[in-house]
Amino acid sequence: MAKRESKSETLRAPLQTVEHKPLRSAKGAAGAAGAAGAAGGGAAVTAAGGASKRPSGWTAATADRHVLYTHAVQSVEAEIDFVDSTYREIRGKPARILREDFCGTGATSCEWARRRPQNHAVGLDRDQATLAWGGQNILSKLSDSERARVKLLNRDVREPGREGSGVDMVLAMNFSYWIFRAREELRAYFARVRETLGSGGVFFLDHYGGFESMKEQRDKREIKTRKGPFTYIWDQKTYDPITGKMDCAIHFHFADGTRMRNAFTYTWRLWTLPEIQELLSEAGFRNVTVYWEGDDKKGSGNGVFTPAKQGEACAAFICYLSAEK
Ligand SMILES: C[S@@+](CC[C@H](N)C(=O)[O-])C[C@H]1O[C@@H](n2cnc3c(N)ncnc32)[C@H](O)[C@@H]1O
Repeated sequence: MAKRESKSETLRAPLQTVEHKPLRSAKGAAGAAGAAGAAGGGAAVTAAGGASKRPSGWTAATADRHVLYTHAVQSVEAEIDFVDSTYREIRGKPARILREDFCGTGATSCEWARRRPQNHAVGLDRDQATLAWGGQNILSKLSDSERARVKLLNRDVREPGREGSGVDMVLAMNFSYWIFRAREELRAYFARVRETLGSGGVFFLDHYGGFESMKEQRDKREIKTRKGPFTYIWDQKTYDPITGKMDCAIHFHFADGTRMRNAFTYTWRLWTLPEIQELLSEAGFRNVTVYWEGDDKKGSGNGVFTPAKQGEACAAFICYLSAEK
């Protein structure tokens, strides 16, 4: 099997079919925008050269960082496709209630409600401004029936409460759970997820790894949208091999030369995949499964994730995990 030599190749793979909505590859390293409680608000807007010269309606002074994030990082359709079909394969029936931990704008929860009239979603995040943005810009665009089946709650993921308990699935995507940097802390979160899943519930996570994940480097990508292109930069600013702590940021550059620096920032522990599997088992989960991405025969991923016991030494990869209660 061909090795994926670069993160950008790996991460881009599924992007190719949807021009304005990058799929999960992009979110991988890049989108990792989740975890650390994205330092919202602190974005520095500057004028500088170097962005794409193609005509574009984007400029730093007016661009909304959440809109940019949606284009560059998130792929809620692909994410819901994966968890929906995998839950059915595991349990032999469709899931109904989804909890989205670290939901940010709640885009994934809204997509779940859109899929079937029986679906309900609960999104948990402790950033009120981001939840409010999701309410105004995503939730408000659902039909009345869909909207009535989504709750976005300002709550710590470790205290999901009655509304967030007894659910069929819990999702912790975009590596958001890497905010928990101590082993005990991450295991306690996993145990809490298990406790608050309904019987037969399944926990879904994603993971980013490969030797490039430990490099201090920037990954630039042009994002095409109907309004024109912009440049998305995933910046792995620092990595400490002793503690595993890493500082990352997302910047955006625009064709008119303006820039939005540090639109999102994260402080994480870069966990390894074996550690995550061990901690899920230690937290009481059964059948912890890794889903590895297939190969497009040109050195990139093909966007299809299947259960695997052995991976490849890719420069960068994204995979999913499921863990059963
Ligand atoms: C960028 S978002 C991830 C959004 C979305 N899950 C995605 O895939 O892009 C990460 C979110 O985690 C939230 N967060 C961090 N720690 C949290 C905690 N302990 N409980 C709830 N939310 C938390 C932050 O407020 C931030 O909005």
